[in-house]
Amino acid sequence: MTETVLITGASSGIGLELAKCFAADKSNLILVARNTAALEALAGQLRLQHKIDVYVITADLARLESAQAIFDELKGRGMIVDVLINNAGFGLHGAFAELPMDRQLEIIQVNITALVALTRLFLPGMIERMRGGVLNVGSVAGFLPGPHLGVYSATKAFVQSFTEAVAEELPGTGVTVTAFCPGATDTNFSKVARGEKQRIHKVAKMPADVAARVAHQDFRAGKVISVPGFSNRLVIFAIRFLPRWLPRRLFKYYNRMDEGAGK
Ligand SMILES: NC(=O)c1ccc[n+]([C@@H]2O[C@H](COP(=O)([O-])OP(=O)(O)OC[C@H]3O[C@@H](n4cnc5c(N)ncnc54)[C@H](OP(=O)(O)O)[C@@H]3O)[C@@H](O)[C@H]2O)c1
Repeated sequence: MTETVLITGASSGIGLELAKCFAADKSNLILVARNTAALEALAGQLRLQHKIDVYVITADLARLESAQAIFDELKGRGMIVDVLINNAGFGLHGAFAELPMDRQLEIIQVNITALVALTRLFLPGMIERMRGGVLNVGSVAGFLPGPHLGVYSATKAFVQSFTEAVAEELPGTGVTVTAFCPGATDTNFSKVARGEKQRIHKVAKMPADVAARVAHQDFRAGKVISVPGFSNRLVIFAIRFLPRWLPRRLFKYYNRMDEGAGK
C-alpha cells in the first residue's frame, strides 16, 4: 500500500529536501507551508519525476486554528496521513528583552503548539492502523540554552522532551516517533532569524540535502533520536559532562560567530 507523508515547512530548506527523499520512496506527499508558489513548483517537479500524488496546502502555522483546519481538510477528502513530518519552524536572533513579543510568541506557536496539535490529531489514526510515524525536527539547540536565540532554543528543548516521551509510549503499536536534531544547516533559517542583520556566516553549515537524508534514513530505521554529523553528535555527548554554565556560555559565543562578529 502506498503511504502518504505530510511535511510541514516543505517550501524550502530541510523540509523541501525531505520531500525529495520521501518522493524517491514513491510515497505520496502533502506539502504544507505559507509560500504556495514554492510548494506548487516542488509538487510539479516531484509529480513528474516520481509519478506520485502531491497535494499542496497553504497554511500559516502561526495561526492557532491551522492544525485543525489541515486535519479537517484531509479528512473531508478521505486522505489518510501515514507519516507526519513536523519540520516547519523558525527562530529570531537577538536579545530576548528587545525582540518583538508577538514574533517571539509566534515561534512558540509554530515550533511547539502546531507541532503538538498536528501530532495529537494524526497520531491516533496511525496507532489504530498500526503503522506510520512522526518525524519531529528539533535541533542541537534543544540540548542547551541559547543566548540570543533564547525562545527558539527553548522550543527545541520542548520538541526534544515531548518527542522522546511520546516515543516511549509507542512500543508495540507499529508506530514510531523520531526527533531529528540538526546543527547549523545551509537553509533560509539564518536569513529569517536575522532579517536585515543578515551577514556572511563564519560558521560551517551542513548542506540541507545531507541533513535530510540522515533524517529520512533514521526515521525509516525507527530511531528515537537522530543527529546528523559527527560534530553535532560530539556536542550533544560532551554537554553531559560539562558544568551547567559552560555550554550556555559557549553557545553565546557561537551565536556571535554566526552573526559574523569579529569581521
Ligand atoms: N538551518 C538550521 O541551521 C537548523 C538547525 C537546527 C534545526 N533547524 C530546524 O529545521 C526546520 C526547518 O528549517 P530550515 O532550516 O529548513 O529553514 P527554512 O529554509 O527557513 O525553512 C523553514 C520552513 O518552515 C516554514 N514555516 C515557517 N514559518 C511558518 C508558518 N508560520 N507557517 C507554515 N510554515 C512555516 C517555511 O515555509 P513558508 O515560509 O513558506 O511558510 C519553510 O518551509 C526548523 O524547524 C528549524 O528550526 C534548522
